[in-house]
Amino acid sequence: MAILRQANERDVEAVCALMNSSLDQMFSPLVVGFFLDQWPTGQIVAEDVFGNLLGAICGSKLDSGRVTISLFAVDVAFRGRGIGTELFEAFRRRCMMEGIGVMQLEVRSTNTAAMRFYESQGFVRIAHLDDFYTDGGDAYRMSAFVSRCRTGRPLPPRGEEGKGFS
Ligand SMILES: CC(C)(COP(=O)(O)OP(=O)(O)OC[C@H]1O[C@@H](n2cnc3c(N)ncnc32)[C@H](O)[C@@H]1OP(=O)(O)O)[C@@H](O)C(=O)NCCC(=O)NCCS
Repeated sequence: MAILRQANERDVEAVCALMNSSLDQMFSPLVVGFFLDQWPTGQIVAEDVFGNLLGAICGSKLDSGRVTISLFAVDVAFRGRGIGTELFEAFRRRCMMEGIGVMQLEVRSTNTAAMRFYESQGFVRIAHLDDFYTDGGDAYRMSAFVSRCRTGRPLPPRGEEGKGFS
């Protein structure tokens, strides 16, 4: 069972190690620390009952009520057990609570597993970015409404969520 909580400074080294073993770019702990300073509540970790890190998601605030998912990974030994979905859902709820409208991210165009994951969460590809990565790799920029209202329609009024919205 994964326990989810907001990250703190004691998590920086472990989150950095997880990202460096999961993503094909290397990050300094300063990068993770920067995200933590910039938006403390947008950093979420999943751990086991012994406090071992299982996964993490690091968000960053953009302008105009948007955020980006800057770093996101689950330990390879624990993938496919729903931890990524739980982390993402906790992140999405946090965005909702803070009045954020849109989430976006960049994903390597060859990372089909991650793209499938994001698409299943309601993200759509909005741009192809040539040479986005330092090694010359391309990326897709993907975006989703926090409310999961993919057509961009507003949420129904409070208390009327179950009444349909045609
Ligand atoms: C993307 C990632 C965070 C998902 O975490 P996870 O804990 O494995 O995800 P879940 O177990 O919640 O799976 C959610 C869904 O995605 C699918 N999925 C997740 N990883 C997958 C993979 N590697 N291959 C195929 N499908 C995958 C699952 O089958 C599941 O689908 P379902 O709900 O229809 O069963 C994880 O695969 C990961 O760390 N990848 C490497 C790092 C990475 O690419 N990060 C994104 C950078 S933009």
